[in-house]
Formats: sequence, C-alpha cells, structure tokens
Amino acid sequence: MIKFTNLNFKYMNSDKKCLENINLEIKKNECILFTGVSGCGKTSILRLINGLIPNFYFGELTGQVCIDDENITNMDIRDISRKVNSVFQNPKSQFFNAIVEDELAFKPENYNMNPKDIVKNIKDILEKYKLKDFQKRNLFTLSGGEKQRICCLTSETFPAEIIVLDEPSSNLDVDSIEKLREIITKWKKEGKTIIIAEHRLWYLMGLADRVYYMKEGKIERTFSGNEFEDIPYKALKEMGLRSNQNRKLKFYSRIGNITDNKANKYKNNNLIQIDYLKFRVKEKELLDIKNIFLPMNSIIGIVGLNGVGKSTFMNCFCGLEKKSKEVIKVAGIKMDKKQRLKKAILLCRMLITNYLLKA
Ligand SMILES: Nc1ncnc2c1ncn2[C@@H]1O[C@H](COP(=O)(O)OP(=O)(O)O)[C@@H](O)[C@H]1O
Ligand SMILES: [Mg+2]
Repeated sequence: MIKFTNLNFKYMNSDKKCLENINLEIKKNECILFTGVSGCGKTSILRLINGLIPNFYFGELTGQVCIDDENITNMDIRDISRKVNSVFQNPKSQFFNAIVEDELAFKPENYNMNPKDIVKNIKDILEKYKLKDFQKRNLFTLSGGEKQRICCLTSETFPAEIIVLDEPSSNLDVDSIEKLREIITKWKKEGKTIIIAEHRLWYLMGLADRVYYMKEGKIERTFSGNEFEDIPYKALKEMGLRSNQNRKLKFYSRIGNITDNKANKYKNNNLIQIDYLKFRVKEKELLDIKNIFLPMNSIIGIVGLNGVGKSTFMNCFCGLEKKSKEVIKVAGIKMDKKQRLKKAILLCRMLITNYLLKA
C-alpha cells in the first residue's frame, strides 16, 4: 500500500540529509510505529506519506514513495488526502473552524460529499464516541485531550484508508491517552492502515504490528510488535526511548477539592489566599474552589487530568476571566481582577501569550 524505495530527502535551506536510504513497505491494515529520539526523522517520514513533502515542505528528494503504486510526487495533494488523514502533534494547529461540527464537516464538504450524509455521519460518529454534547462546542474551549479526540474524529467523517498520527499523545494525560488507544484500536479493527510517529511507547504495545527505530534519518532497526515489546527497559533506555512499562500516574483530585491543611504554618503576609473562586459557563460549574492557601515565593504545581480545569484556574487566578467570581487576597490584601492582572505574568507553553502581571 505504501512503499519507500531508496528514499533520500534534504530540506531546502538545510545542508544535512534528513532522511537517508529509506526502504520499507507498509501493507493495508498494518499498524506501524516509527520511533527514535527527537530529530531522527519521524515527522518527515509522515510528511512524505501525507504529501506535506513535497507540497508544503520543499527540498531535494531522490528515490520514491508510492501509495497504491502511484508515486506521490506525481500525485495531486487532493488525491493524496483522499487516501490519507493526518492527526498532528498539536491539535490546535490543524483546526480550520471554531465549532466542533463545522470542523468535522470541513474535509467532507471540501470533497463535495452529500450534505445530508455529512450531517448524519457527524451525528453518528459523535454518538459512537459518546461526544454528543460536543457538537456545538467551540473548539477553543475544549481541553487538550478533547481537542485531540476531535482531531481523531475528523478521520472518521472523511474515511480515508490511511491515518498518520504524529506524536498524538504529546499533550495528553494518561486517561486521554487510553481513549486515544481505544480509537486507534477501533480503526485497526475497521481495517485502516495506521502509521504513528511516537517516542511515548507504552500505549501502543499490543497495537503496533511493526516498529521502525530511526536514528539520524536512517532506519536503524526493524522489530515486529512482539519483539519490540520484549526489549528490556535498559536496552530501550540506551536507544533513547522511554520505558515501555505502563507507569500510569493518575491524579483524580478535582481542583475544586484542593485544601492545604499546612497553610496555617505560613504567616498571612506570606500567603495568597483564595477564599473562594467560582466559574460557571452556562449551567456548568467549571470551578468551585474554597479556601486555598498558596505560599508566596514558592513554586506550585497544579496537576490533574485533561479537562479538570487547570488552565481555566490559571486564567481566573490571573484576572483574565471576566465572568469568574472570587475573593483572592495577596498578603492579606484583597485584589480584584484588574489588580491581579497587573501582578502576574501568564506564560502558556512556549509562547508568552500575555504580559499580565509583573510579580
Ligand atoms: N521544515 C524544516 N526545514 C529544515 N529542516 C527541518 C524541517 N523540519 C525538520 N527538519 C530537520 O529534519 C530533521 C528531522 O526532523 P523531524 O522529521 O522533525 O524529526 P522527529 O520527528 O523525529 O523529531 C531534523 O534535523 C530537523 O531539524
Ligand atoms: Mg516529530
């Protein structure tokens, strides 16, 4: 179904080959894992399968990549994406719409599918995955895990035979990763060909039929799924890979339930005190926090499953969320939203999205 023959690729503006002498064949209904340390070429392999190379990423390409015996360099990107669906590392980067159902309709609409079928499909798929309540939701209000699940579902509203996933677990907590595994398992049963680039391995055990271990742009080793599962922890570590042991960390506490009994050991002037913080969207109570004491001059981690309200809490805490209701005191002095906005800086991921406060 997919065949790489003596494939070499060098990105434009790069003096180093990114993929070197790749020869491999992926058959229909196989689940394939590409793994290896960051920069080894996993993403680039996927870009060759979904046509982003050479249609959006340019460079020098020699050798061949064929899908169903057709060389991708001769194929129109529209024909490639008829056959291949992609799920990227950062779900936000692949949305074209603001509302869940619009996003799910986007690809089939572009391929001129019958509107009645599109509507029915979306309804069925959301029901199948118990996500009916999400149909009219704004994508940007979804948690990371929920966004990623919607990305996966776009692969169902337009049923391409091949699905490529690039580090799909990278923004997910353990529960969301398990849901991702369930979706991949379903696809496998339905006969899809699934190609995943990952360095987080445990959730793919028992799913991957073959594993390509890449190093510096080359396929260094090839394992069957079973062989790969048997690689001892130490050897995996030497390969630069994460353990395949299923070390699950589960944090079930809702933010709303946090209390810090040790708080009274701090003096008032060394504390940020949240008497209460409530935030509702329509009828849904997203945050209901009472009596939290945060010691100042300290680093505090807020942990929890995708969707429990970590980011919402941060936004409310900094004063960014207009509709939250709270009483927050810093060193005993009550501060309203405006005052808190002047006091804090919120850094989101790698981007400084907003200069909020100067601490
Ligand atoms: N758009 C690009 N332009 C130039 N070099 C790139 C580009 N994308 C990736 N590379 C380089 O290609 C190599 C392989 O990258 P990538 O395929 O992203 O690896 P991985 O997904 O395994 O981390 C790296 O050296 C990376 O810096
Ligand atoms: Mg990558």
